[in-house]
Amino acid sequence: MNSKTILLVGNGGREHAMAASIRTNAPETDLLIAPGNPGTARLGRNAAVAADDVPGLVELARAERASLTIVGPEAPLAGGIGDAFAAEGLPLFGPSAAAARIESSKAFAKQLMLEEGVPTAGFEVFTDPEAALAHVRAGSGPIVVKASGLAAGKGAIVCLDRQEAERAVQEVMVDRRFGAAGDKLVVEEFMDGEELSVFFLTDGRTAVPLVPSRDHKRLLEDDLGPNTGGMGAYSPVGGADMALIDQIRTEVAEPVLAGMASRGCPYRGFLYAGLMLTADGPKVIEFNCRLGDPEAQVVLPLTRSDLVEPMDAVARGGGLEGWTPDLSPGAALVTVVVSGGYPGSYPKGIPIEIPADLEGPTVRLYHAGTAMGPDGLVTAGGRVFGVTGIGADLAEAAERSRAAAARIRFDGATWRKDIGRSELS
Ligand code: AMP
Ligand code: GLY
Repeated sequence: MNSKTILLVGNGGREHAMAASIRTNAPETDLLIAPGNPGTARLGRNAAVAADDVPGLVELARAERASLTIVGPEAPLAGGIGDAFAAEGLPLFGPSAAAARIESSKAFAKQLMLEEGVPTAGFEVFTDPEAALAHVRAGSGPIVVKASGLAAGKGAIVCLDRQEAERAVQEVMVDRRFGAAGDKLVVEEFMDGEELSVFFLTDGRTAVPLVPSRDHKRLLEDDLGPNTGGMGAYSPVGGADMALIDQIRTEVAEPVLAGMASRGCPYRGFLYAGLMLTADGPKVIEFNCRLGDPEAQVVLPLTRSDLVEPMDAVARGGGLEGWTPDLSPGAALVTVVVSGGYPGSYPKGIPIEIPADLEGPTVRLYHAGTAMGPDGLVTAGGRVFGVTGIGADLAEAAERSRAAAARIRFDGATWRKDIGRSELS
């Protein structure tokens, strides 16, 4: 059999989990990861092209005759990798830049939801700081201030009162803490409830959900401390049953896909719906144009089906109608081990020790911020590893994840022992 070359773009824990899923489900694949990390190097060939170097990636795909390119992170998608590959006739799974606006412009996403009747928090969009300040001064109680553009997950500020909201507007629009991402500001109504992440694989019309998950964004136990890129995640999530996922598919995903198609930017790829489960039902917090990280590190181990085949079909303009993935009824929980100081500044190049028997059928170690130094593995980022435990139920998955996380050693290693707390207490 001819082995096909797949190019996977990215270098985080999500991409390590994607590489592992491809290796398991399509073992014949010649897998190329750009730029990859020391974890993906064990599953395929890493190529030294940055994830946001769109021309470099076009060249790589052409030189390696990649039959399919799969994109992990949002930056290259927002930067037009989908369009660049389409122009060259190279099959790629992921949305065009116009479709990726669902993540790269919160103002666009909110307007789309308003016009398509998708449940979400009420909002106003501002380009003038004075008008934004006048708006928040007229309000009372909690409100959410968001930079409209990409801000690495840190552009949303939940404000408990008017003073905090004024400060947030100042920081985003005047001090430009998120740079140009804050030139446009979205001010939203505060929504109360538990969060849920649902990922759909979509061809632009049919939306197929994977297992739902929940991540923990706060640094400290009991969901305290600053927001991070994600300290852990788990699946399944209590209350997120088939009926709820179906409701989210019909009330959220399908109207969005129809709306995108009618605006001339059909949406193909992974659609990430971040939801608040409010007393009035699920409402959208945000969309992302990719899989979530660390959520992918629990969702993919619970996906038994090969995803390469449907991704390949979508990349070639085909449809997903009739395709149903085989999803595991078990549980998975990922604990993220981070560098001391994260999400603030942290050292890099710290030597890491991992026991040789750490990984097994029920424990997966995903590299996120590691590098290979002259004397072995060292830290190279804020989120260093995701340690996923797999079990029959969440308690078992949690036990396995936490026991393994405790065995990873590097100076400053920090992790939360309470991922999944609301389900397990
Ligand atoms: P976002 O960048 O839009 O995903 O927001 C980041 C985080 O801020 C979310 O995961 C929520 O925890 C919180 N958040 C965002 N929007 C709202 C809202 N309207 N009401 C309550 N919390 C929110
Ligand atoms: N875990 C949140 C994200 O991937 O955006």
